[in-house]
Amino acid sequence: METNSISTRVLLLFIALQLGCQLISCSVTYDGKAIVINGRRRILMSGSIHYPRSTPEMWEDVIMKAKEGGLDVIETYVFWNVHEPSPGNYNFEGRYNLVRFLKTVQKAGLYAHLRIGPYVCAEWNFGGFPVWLKYVPGISFRTDNEPFKRAMKGFTEKIVNMMKYEKLFESQGGPIILSQIENEYGALDKKFGAAGYNYMTWAAEMAVGLRTGVPWIMCKQEDAPDPIINTCNGFYCDAFKPNKPYKPTIWTEAWTGWFTEFGGAVHKRPVQDLAFAVARFIQKGGSFVNYYMYHGGTNFGRSAGGPFITTSYDYDAPLDEYGLIRQPKYGHLTELHKAIKRCEPALVSGDPTVFSLGANQKAHVYYSKLGHCAAFLSNYDTANATRVTFNNKHHNLPPWSISILPDCNNIVFNTAKIGVQSTRMAMLPTNSQILSWQTYSEELTTSDEDSAFTTFGLLDQVNVTRDASDYLWYITSVDVGPSESFFHGGEHPKLLVQSTGHALHVFINGELSGSAFGTRENRRIKYKNKIKLRSGVNRIALLSVAMGLSNIGGHYESWETGVLGPVVLYGLDHGKRDLTHAKWSYQVGLKGEAMDAVSTTGMSSVEWEESSLITQKNQPLTWHKAYFNEPNGNEPLALDMHSMGKGQVWINGQSIGRYWTAYATGDCRRCHYNGNYRPTKCQVGCGRPTQRWYHVPRSWLKPTGNILVLFEELGGDPRRITLTKRSMTSVCADMFEYHTNITNWQTESNGKTLPIRRPKIHLQCGPGLLISSIKFASFGTPIGTCGTFQRGTCHARASYGVVSKRCIGKERCAVTISNNNFGQDPCPNTLKRLTVEAVCGPTSRG
Ligand SMILES: *[C@@H]1O[C@H](CO)[C@@H](O)[C@H](O)[C@H]1NC(C)=O
Ligand SMILES: *[C@@H]1O[C@H](CO)[C@@H](O)[C@H](O)[C@H]1NC(C)=O
Ligand SMILES: *[C@@H]1O[C@H](CO)[C@@H](O)[C@H](O)[C@H]1NC(C)=O
Repeated sequence: METNSISTRVLLLFIALQLGCQLISCSVTYDGKAIVINGRRRILMSGSIHYPRSTPEMWEDVIMKAKEGGLDVIETYVFWNVHEPSPGNYNFEGRYNLVRFLKTVQKAGLYAHLRIGPYVCAEWNFGGFPVWLKYVPGISFRTDNEPFKRAMKGFTEKIVNMMKYEKLFESQGGPIILSQIENEYGALDKKFGAAGYNYMTWAAEMAVGLRTGVPWIMCKQEDAPDPIINTCNGFYCDAFKPNKPYKPTIWTEAWTGWFTEFGGAVHKRPVQDLAFAVARFIQKGGSFVNYYMYHGGTNFGRSAGGPFITTSYDYDAPLDEYGLIRQPKYGHLTELHKAIKRCEPALVSGDPTVFSLGANQKAHVYYSKLGHCAAFLSNYDTANATRVTFNNKHHNLPPWSISILPDCNNIVFNTAKIGVQSTRMAMLPTNSQILSWQTYSEELTTSDEDSAFTTFGLLDQVNVTRDASDYLWYITSVDVGPSESFFHGGEHPKLLVQSTGHALHVFINGELSGSAFGTRENRRIKYKNKIKLRSGVNRIALLSVAMGLSNIGGHYESWETGVLGPVVLYGLDHGKRDLTHAKWSYQVGLKGEAMDAVSTTGMSSVEWEESSLITQKNQPLTWHKAYFNEPNGNEPLALDMHSMGKGQVWINGQSIGRYWTAYATGDCRRCHYNGNYRPTKCQVGCGRPTQRWYHVPRSWLKPTGNILVLFEELGGDPRRITLTKRSMTSVCADMFEYHTNITNWQTESNGKTLPIRRPKIHLQCGPGLLISSIKFASFGTPIGTCGTFQRGTCHARASYGVVSKRCIGKERCAVTISNNNFGQDPCPNTLKRLTVEAVCGPTSRG
């Protein structure tokens, strides 16, 4: 037995060396040009996929899609607060199974970049720190503080040792080629002065001392000490240089979009600009690009940070929240990666030769000793296309674009010319009915005995709840005499409540009197309203609701949350009555939470009631429960919550997350790809709920009898909640013909046209779908974008017929863009395009 297993081990080691390390020892190093893996400099494309933001059942699919999208590396943060919920108690199960995630990356043949942090920011609750960490005596986060450093070292070591034990570092034959310590500390470092610098250098030394055999990086840390590589995060990073000439130029976060907050619009980043930014970085000598995010996923449970970060963490990433391919973003970047990979031999050989091609145009050319030549032709002009001459050829460069020539001769890719189709997705109804609604009214605490404790004055919410729940009751009473003048026709008194977040519901004698909400930018909220008091004892109950703890800011751990006051009653006969320092009772969480109403076991101890539609509607603080069967098919599923107010929702005991039908404000006017991007530039969804749909992972469902439970704070109509499926409704293609003047390809400088392959449009509906009809087709000068195409002044009459014949009833089709194909040239000497929107439908066989 023993000899057997030893020889197996030797054999496995041999195989690992053969495959991963080509008979020299596995190693990752770096030089001024690139990360060097087993002796070879590499241009690496990477993408962020955070394991807790999807389910283990989704991991292989999103990682394989990332690989097919041309990525070499998967990046993830490590989320301390999910792994160590209380000191010394660890959880690496299910969505938190970091080792399984990394082994899935390895199985796909990809590398990993492990950003341990353990501060991660990431729009994640408390920036990834466990809330208990704040209550370690004498602690101060992310500075030269012994209790903090001890805890940080402990967790970092725990993770590194786990990775070593599982042989996951590349130096051991595993996938991890890079690790990160700390995260975007540079700005704080300066603010904290010597303590900041000492902490940063301590963190660097501590990490390097763990001897992982692979390099460490620090992002946004200009003064990162050797051998740590400082790296860049941003929308553009071509101006970035590492702090030493012998370190490679690494972009750890190329933002593919931006996160969303409740009440805000959804941010999109045009792929033409993202591809331009990446090409700009590579042409300047960058050798590692990580898309943040490549798959953003979902902030399940109460994992969203903020406050007010939405449950969706879609990020306009190449793979959407549900793990589906987002086109044209995914496909256009895939083409970019192919073009960059063809340049790799030249790119890793040295620095570029740069020359000017015009006022705003440049050529970056790379040569290798073996004779490779690769060129990037860039046009920084935000408005105008320009004709440039390079290598005796004319090339037309669209505004704000870069053309890539892996052989210095032929353009294989231009960042502004999208050759792949775009797809339109919609949330469609499913065959599943949500049935048997029952309710349970969250009772208001009626006596002090129910409360956790009573004290004078107002307390910080998180200190009381330790984030065990979003909810904290602050309860006090006021005695009012019968002679008060408002009982005799005078003005009703007003209650003022100042809170530091995040949401507040005010109950007077058991009735909701009103609510107030903060925003991510302004957590301070003020409630000031007339209230109905009665003669005698009045009970003022304030329900303070946390919406994700802050994940960013200098010493954000010290920021207080909840009703911190003042709380003042105005308009009584003797003037105002300050309740700030009165006797307050505290109750952590909801009764339904205490009874575990969401779990299959706790549910039965709750007295659920059948109740009529009318009483269910608009009833604040109500739990609702219902059943449904799993819908047919395999499309990703989501709950449409638009009929509800605000709360949390669970399925089979798993938390789908916080929901809130807050309407998006913002400027959603037209968006242009050209010119510097900022998150406010390309917004969508203004005037609609910021988040209407909530992802329900298929793997959380059983074929029948799934239990949906939700807690509604404000009121809503649960019977209008539906289960929807995310489906492809149509695909669009939009491509220019070849033209001798404004060429997609090239002409010789003597005017001779090269034999050109005519461009084709390609259309393909998703798995199990066929092209059922053609909604729009025009060869000519159509206008608009996918979903809103219209004919322009020039239009070939045969357009619709030609495209229909080729495509209807097919899973995929291709149509060549040429005059011949459409009978005749509909408008000679005009640059034309072929533009199609094809409708996708289920195959007849289902
Ligand atoms: C771009 O074109 C516009 C309009 O044709 C012109 O006014 C502008 O000067 C051009 N910009 C450059 C940099 O050539
Ligand atoms: C938490 O509350 C207790 C009791 O009021 C107080 O003594 C302690 O200082 C608070 N801790 C923090 C970190 O605010
Ligand atoms: C293409 O070139 C021809 C001849 O020089 C010219 O007449 C025509 O207007 C040009 N077309 C475009 C679209 O620029």
